[in-house]
Amino acid sequence: MSGQGEQIVHVAIFSAKPYDISFLTRANTAQAGHHLHFHAARLATGTMALAQGAEAICAFVNDRLGRPVLEGLAAAGVRLVALRSAGYNHVDLAAARSVGIEVCFVPSYSPHAVAEHTLALILTLNRKTHRAWARVREGNFELDGLMGFDLYGKTVGVIGTGRIGSVLAQILLGFGCRVIAHDPKPDPDCLARGVAYLDIAPLLSASDIITLQCPLTERTHHLVDDRAVARMKTGVMLINTSRGAVIDTSAVIRGLKSGRIGSLGLDVYEEEGELFFEDLSDRIIPDDVFARLLTFPNVLITGHQGFFTTEALTAIAETTLANITAFECDGAALHPVPDRQM
Ligand code: NAI
Repeated sequence: MSGQGEQIVHVAIFSAKPYDISFLTRANTAQAGHHLHFHAARLATGTMALAQGAEAICAFVNDRLGRPVLEGLAAAGVRLVALRSAGYNHVDLAAARSVGIEVCFVPSYSPHAVAEHTLALILTLNRKTHRAWARVREGNFELDGLMGFDLYGKTVGVIGTGRIGSVLAQILLGFGCRVIAHDPKPDPDCLARGVAYLDIAPLLSASDIITLQCPLTERTHHLVDDRAVARMKTGVMLINTSRGAVIDTSAVIRGLKSGRIGSLGLDVYEEEGELFFEDLSDRIIPDDVFARLLTFPNVLITGHQGFFTTEALTAIAETTLANITAFECDGAALHPVPDRQM
């Protein structure tokens, strides 16, 4: 590490994709000048040695940050984990504290990116543009099977109205939807715009569309289970762009098979760590639950791309580097993760 005033840091960046390298390098050149060491490998016990010689590491959502890895990182001299994500449910925060590693994140980069992707899933599932695109390319101009419904006037239940959920609520209000919400901390702006806050049970039974925008915590783990599905309107559209384990996937498959769930849009999946962000197109998918999901015509899955816009990646890179620089200069990152999630 350099002395005061210079503050050049070696940063080991895990799960680095070409777009990470491009955006982080650009932001580093403009604002920091740290030594960035990019590694395509995911962070895990088998790869943590790549952090040797780095004071900070930078990790993404499917990197493993449990106790064994954090102890290994601390032994290698790492003092800061800079997450380039808003979610931090994959980090054992107590273990990080106990080995003296600070964890910081990017609390807000573009809530619009995820909110707009959520809307893309809703509109695509509803109007079946993905199926229409394939049909028209095949010269099939038949409309049977493509019927949707007007979003105007429908009731949408938003679970979690933080940064992303509140932007989504605003967009949906623009479509003329009735927006209801559930959140232990109602958002004043949503309240002012006429969003009604309900307990979870009445929200589930009143909604034509239910969308999950809450973090994954002990309380939200499998929030959508068999009981929750049983409360929903027949034919409900369910969307999850938050974290996979907020949904009990097996319960949702049962809901799809019974027809209770009319359509399902996912950008996240409970076991996505084994699948997402990699090209597995020439391999057999060993996950039978995921494979079952792919067989439903009314299920649309994207591979955790809600965040994936130019604006969001620019903001993620800038905030990540600002976190690292602040930690080195002031002894504290700009955005340490809160002590515990609700
Ligand atoms: P935020 O922290 O601004 O908002 C989360 C909201 O959920 C808060 O208002 C909180 O009070 C509420 N909440 C907490 N427990 C709840 C519960 N039991 N029921 C209902 N609401 C509850 O977070 P933000 O930025 O809006 O992100 C939300 C989640 O979206 C993140 O935690 C992350 O998991 C996910 N996300 C997904 C991305 C993607 O690419 N698909 C990208 C970024 C975030």
